[in-house]
Amino acid sequence: MFTIITGSQFGDEGKGKVVDLLADEYDMIVRFQGGDNAGHTIIHEGEKFKLHIIPSGILSRPRLLIGPGVVMNPEILIQEIEMLSEKNIIIKPEKLGIDAKTSIIMPYHIRLDELGEAVRSEKIGTTRRGIAYAYMDKVARDEVQLSDIVDEKRFKKRINEVLPQKRRLIKSFGEDLDEYLETEEEGWVDRYVEIGKKLKSYLTDVSREVNDALSSGKKVLAEGAQGTHLDLIHGTQKYVTSSSTIAGSACTNLGVGPTRVTGVIGIVKAYITRVGEGPLPTELHDETGDRLRERGGEYGTTTGRPRRCGWLDLPLLRKSVNLNGYTEIVLTKLDVLTGLNPIKVCHAYKHKNKKFEYPPHETHILSECTPEYTEFEGWNEKISDIRNYNDLPENAKTYIEQIEEIVSIPVTYISVGPDRREMIKKPDL
Ligand code: GDP
Ligand code: IMO
Ligand code: MG
Repeated sequence: MFTIITGSQFGDEGKGKVVDLLADEYDMIVRFQGGDNAGHTIIHEGEKFKLHIIPSGILSRPRLLIGPGVVMNPEILIQEIEMLSEKNIIIKPEKLGIDAKTSIIMPYHIRLDELGEAVRSEKIGTTRRGIAYAYMDKVARDEVQLSDIVDEKRFKKRINEVLPQKRRLIKSFGEDLDEYLETEEEGWVDRYVEIGKKLKSYLTDVSREVNDALSSGKKVLAEGAQGTHLDLIHGTQKYVTSSSTIAGSACTNLGVGPTRVTGVIGIVKAYITRVGEGPLPTELHDETGDRLRERGGEYGTTTGRPRRCGWLDLPLLRKSVNLNGYTEIVLTKLDVLTGLNPIKVCHAYKHKNKKFEYPPHETHILSECTPEYTEFEGWNEKISDIRNYNDLPENAKTYIEQIEEIVSIPVTYISVGPDRREMIKKPDL
């Protein structure tokens, strides 16, 4: 069994919580793209875990893997391992494997991300984690891989090869790389060498491990980061991240054939959020938007930035269904809608007398669209303690079943609070 989970919106749909919940049903959980731009929050027995690199199955039994399509900041990984060990969760190579070909985020990638964003006349609002520049090096074949940093000699040879071009690039922004590295990152080479030594025993071939596991009947869950409309190819360019975030990317990045996929789960927040710039047709600039943000705790896990909030956007969801081939949907944060009346859902956009039930193919037109809404009656009952679908208020059930009907995909779980226990399994009707 090979299941892929992706965010259906602009990230922060609650993927971390859902992966944590489902983890016990799997033997292996694998991250396949992105880097520490991701922030996945898990609340387990009252304790909060914020993960950026380590897969969200960490609190459960499965083996965890980081695939070669990830760009990894080794210092963030070590911080995460230390944070977990303070909570008595000890990570060893038997638990975590990292592909030898995983790209390493270097200090100059982070500086370039900051400099690139500073000179952009229209900002993207990146997380400034060096993601784009690390992927650029992969494509340009100038990356440093995990297999390089675990060997001091090879690592030093490799950085001597790439540093001259980084110096020139950073100089083009009017800055001196060596000065920056000395002032901001003193001793970074030695630090990377030390981390490399620590990570040597984690090296693995993720494609081989995943394929072997599947061949022996084991269950593998591929955990996506970011969200569908941040996809580098199909998203709302230029306001996207630098990796492919959709389900097919799990096959490419993990080296697993598409014939092995058995299910694709889409995580859909009951409303929508976006952090950073870019079109968000249903964005609310009023009290309702503030209320969603406060009630939903909509502040970035990675950067702390307030997330932009709006009503659920069905044209975008229809496109997510196509891009990912979802076989089921997990609807999250339904509790945040409690007390709102009416609850609105965007069923189409208007643009200069034209109506769109599917997003227009040009991002600049999407940003000029105005939403048309269907109104649903709300509910006032607190729903976080409900565990049985039939106990949900009638209006909440109508909301869920309408979404199901419109996108023709079954909703299998409904999340009604941040804690792992706050989840309702929806029976087949
Ligand atoms: P991810 O990036 O998709 O893993 O999502 P994040 O963890 O960045 O953001 C989701 C936030 O919502 C986190 O703070 C979660 O603890 C929280 N959360 C997840 N599911 C629910 C839910 O059903 N209700 C509420 N109120 N909060 C939730
Ligand atoms: P999770 O996995 C929400 C956004 C950034 C910015 C754009 C590009 O927690 O859902 P980048 O640093 O990737 O070059 O920034 O992408 N972004 C996210 N937004 N959730 C995320 O991850 C995100 N990762 C990147 O805010 O708009
Ligand atoms: Mg997040």
